[in-house]
Amino acid sequence: MGVDGTAGNVLSIQEVGEAIVHLTVATETRPNPGQFYLLRAWQEAPLLGRPISVFDYSEGKVEFVFKIVGKGTEILAKLKVNDKLQLQGPFGNGFPEVEGKILLIGGGLGNAPLHATAKVLKAKGQEVDLRLGFAEKIYLEKEFNQAATNTQFVVGGLVTNGLNIRDYDAVLTCGPHPMMEAVVKMAHQAGIPSYVSIEKRMACGIGACLVCTCKTKSGNKKTCKDGPVFEGEEIFYEDEDKIS
Ligand SMILES: Cc1cc2nc3c(=O)[nH]c(=O)nc-3n(C[C@H](O)[C@H](O)[C@H](O)COP(=O)(O)OP(=O)(O)OC[C@H]3O[C@@H](n4cnc5c(N)ncnc54)[C@H](O)[C@@H]3O)c2cc1C
Ligand code: FES
Repeated sequence: MGVDGTAGNVLSIQEVGEAIVHLTVATETRPNPGQFYLLRAWQEAPLLGRPISVFDYSEGKVEFVFKIVGKGTEILAKLKVNDKLQLQGPFGNGFPEVEGKILLIGGGLGNAPLHATAKVLKAKGQEVDLRLGFAEKIYLEKEFNQAATNTQFVVGGLVTNGLNIRDYDAVLTCGPHPMMEAVVKMAHQAGIPSYVSIEKRMACGIGACLVCTCKTKSGNKKTCKDGPVFEGEEIFYEDEDKIS
């Protein structure tokens, strides 16, 4: 895994939804699905790069989809084609290899890393169902439709409603914690493995500062290095009644 702390050129940038930005950057690094980069396009404040997951990648470029929520993402959103930004990464473990028919279920910005993941699994010849929850409006509909064997969008409401998880051999999820917890519980009941990608505030991205420490069934782990992807039941385990 290469770590590229040098400048990447913006190849394209556009707003694809309400405060949702699709950014493509030139890089020689090659991520795996579920990994993330720290993006930085400023001199002093805010101090740290912002973790953003890989939405897509191909030879020489990586794509991100992020929501403007604060200072860092505001600055990133104002970049123009040919501007340079610091691209550090790829970091994290990414989603594991899973066999059989796979369900990818996402919510909100958690949909972004599932796009790259679905594409890779589909390219390997696996059957991949992508089920995505959006609060109000679907963005990048064409891209999500092309990424998987079947793509289903849920706008408003619960993305888990009407889901038959027993149709699948494994489930990968990213999104709000209550949604991921529900998915892990359903997978547990169906007897299939689940993997969750979790979000924590981050600083170094390489396991040195402990800012991203998370509690798991087997003790404290660093989300940036040991994750962000964990087995579902490593994270959602506390109340055994919840997952039994
Ligand atoms: C591994 C990882 C992958 C991520 N991938 C994506 C992605 O693909 N697309 C995307 O839009 N966002 C993603 N995020 C979240 C993104 O990093 C934050 O939205 C961003 O850092 C906010 O920076 P800011 O300076 O704009 O906002 P800040 O001013 O730092 O914060 C603004 C608000 O966002 C909240 N916030 C900031 N960072 C996080 C975080 N890590 N978790 C929860 N809340 C946070 C703050 O509490 C605050 O309320 C990811 C986070 C992690 C840890
Ligand atoms: S961000 Fe520093 S240890 Fe994870």
